[in-house]
Amino acid sequence: MTDNRTGKSYDVEIKDGTVKAMDLRQIKTDDEDFGLMTYDPGFTNTASCRSAVTYIDGEKGILEHRGIPIEQLTEHSNFLEVSYLVLHGHLPTQKEYDEWVYDITHHTYVHEMIKRFMDGFRHDANPMGMLLASVGALSTFYPEARDTSDEFQRYVSAVRLIAKMPTLAAFAYRHSLGLPYVYPDNDLTYTGNFLSMLFKMAEPRYEPDPRIEKALDVLFILHADHEQNCSAAAVRVVGSAINDPFTSVAAGVAGLYGPSHGGANVAVLKMLERIKSADNIPDFLQSVKDGNERLMGFGHRVYKNYDPRARIIRGHVDEVLEATGKSSPLLDVAIELEKRALDDEYFTDRKLYPNVDYWSGIIYEAMGIPTDAFTVMFAIGRTPGWTAQWMELMNDEEFRIARPRQIYTGPRQTDYVPMGER
Ligand SMILES: CC(C)(COP(=O)(O)OP(=O)(O)OC[C@H]1O[C@@H](n2cnc3c(N)ncnc32)[C@H](O)[C@@H]1OP(=O)(O)O)[C@@H](O)C(=O)NCCC(=O)NCCS
Repeated sequence: MTDNRTGKSYDVEIKDGTVKAMDLRQIKTDDEDFGLMTYDPGFTNTASCRSAVTYIDGEKGILEHRGIPIEQLTEHSNFLEVSYLVLHGHLPTQKEYDEWVYDITHHTYVHEMIKRFMDGFRHDANPMGMLLASVGALSTFYPEARDTSDEFQRYVSAVRLIAKMPTLAAFAYRHSLGLPYVYPDNDLTYTGNFLSMLFKMAEPRYEPDPRIEKALDVLFILHADHEQNCSAAAVRVVGSAINDPFTSVAAGVAGLYGPSHGGANVAVLKMLERIKSADNIPDFLQSVKDGNERLMGFGHRVYKNYDPRARIIRGHVDEVLEATGKSSPLLDVAIELEKRALDDEYFTDRKLYPNVDYWSGIIYEAMGIPTDAFTVMFAIGRTPGWTAQWMELMNDEEFRIARPRQIYTGPRQTDYVPMGER
């Protein structure tokens, strides 16, 4: 590298297609100079870690967990097996799988005080805000998890997080409707039990519809991990201060809450409701092009092609509508809007294609899940990923506390002015 300011040349190693930002520090104009830094708002071209969890090729639309394509996982596996894979790095043997399912199933209950904690929220509290608070609160119920060097604590905290997330999510949902909480049913599958905790009323036993159970399980698999996105990065940044997994994953839930991340499926549905009818699509698209609107559920920082997750979940939409017996007028708007946008140079030139959130909202709505709770569904699916990212961070030989640099733009050395003189 040649510094054009000084004409000096430097050898900087290129490894795995990257240069180490710290190798640039030697590049100085004089001895007083701090040294060259990189500037990358939004981390658009900065690898923050080495990771073996998830591979994405955004140009080609490829997503693999531990090397296995997402298409194979959604077709042949289930969410709990994928959780094991994401967390442990390999598919379980039958014995490992049985033990894993047993462990998760036997950690689904939450402390009764968590119920009381939930009761403290207003009746119209956003379920995602409730989830964020209650996941953080779990750290106070398991203070031993703060010993992050203890292998057993790491493992049992991961199990607790994956097991309790649906219980917390369902309690948040029931609270918002003023319904009594439903305790976990250990005889149902992970997804079936979640549906039971959401929808069981007076019947002695809730029997989930297998088509809905499967579609929800697929949605959870599709969300299992997505490498270094906003929420995973939040988990790693907070975890790097040596925080337990509950505290770190609460940061992930907070990241996911935002409309540019997990909140996008809510925004999609609100957008479709506003468009209302296919006749209004041209005006809406014009407004997007004029910069007054964003086409929610389209575009992705990494995917510059059709999001493979969107393709898979699209395949379940009709089945879920058939199972619920509902017709969704918004589905027609969504189909037509997608078609028009994919035919429009404004979107194709910018490589804007549907992402997973474009279709997930339609499915959740058909299942009877209130819009505010959509992101909570995403959070359940993403929990193994957050936990795996945390685990990987803790085992990282290059572990450092996250502490970015800045370019200071404010004033310097100004004098304090007493109140009366301002
Ligand atoms: C996901 C998202 C935040 C990625 O943002 P990003 O990587 O920073 O992309 P940029 O904002 O740089 O977009 C590049 C261009 O496409 C446009 N663009 C991106 N997403 C767009 C969208 N959903 N609708 C309309 N235009 C969009 C930008 O305006 C920009 O256009 P320009 O080059 O004329 O300025 C963004 O695509 C978005 O807001 N999508 C909608 C929200 C969503 O569905 N999020 C879920 C992600 S899973």
